[in-house]
Amino acid sequence: MKLFLDTADVGEIKRYAHVLSGVTTNPTLIMKSGRDFKEVVNEICSIVDGPISAEVTAEDAVGMFREAKEISSWHKNIVIKIPMVEEGIKATCLCSDAGIKTNVTLVFSVPQALLAAVAGATFMSPFLGRLDDVGQDGVYLVKEIVKVYGNYGFPTEIIAASIRGPTHVIECAKAGAHIATIPPKLMAQLYNHPLTDIGIKQFMDDWERAKK
Ligand code: E4P
Repeated sequence: MKLFLDTADVGEIKRYAHVLSGVTTNPTLIMKSGRDFKEVVNEICSIVDGPISAEVTAEDAVGMFREAKEISSWHKNIVIKIPMVEEGIKATCLCSDAGIKTNVTLVFSVPQALLAAVAGATFMSPFLGRLDDVGQDGVYLVKEIVKVYGNYGFPTEIIAASIRGPTHVIECAKAGAHIATIPPKLMAQLYNHPLTDIGIKQFMDDWERAKK
């Protein structure tokens, strides 16, 4: 499973760049960065050589496609994030025909995932954490989508999104999601285990003794 970072914070992206295959942003993350959209997306592209998702904000397919053409012209690695609504699926078809890579976002059901794949989306992002928040099972949705995509050999890659904890990462990897997009705070957690710390301390202490 590939790891993407879910942030527009370039400091965090630089910190984890060695393990990243891509980055996802959204309007909220751009707002939190406090920076200009184009400027920050271009800087992210200069740090990570992989798919960088940048979201459109128009509400109709023609407007979304117009934005997609503009944003994708900034850098070859930009992927256009398009919301999972009827107009968004139309825009995804237009992008697919025009060779523009897409990430259909805010997916919460198998039929939505199916529509994204049929429209030719490059990526599709089910939001696990937000489903869990309303008492549904995000991991179960990922498992179902993996099964359905597998039945038909859809090339659309599944980005497990709205990831909230290490268990989400483990379960999505077991389910066969292609990618997990992870917030920086969780990425830091993934490196750690108390037994690793105890083991390192013991080895260092013993090394000091061995040198005497
Ligand atoms: C994914 O592409 C989204 O940016 C993100 O995972 C949303 O996560 P949230 O539900 O924590 O905001």
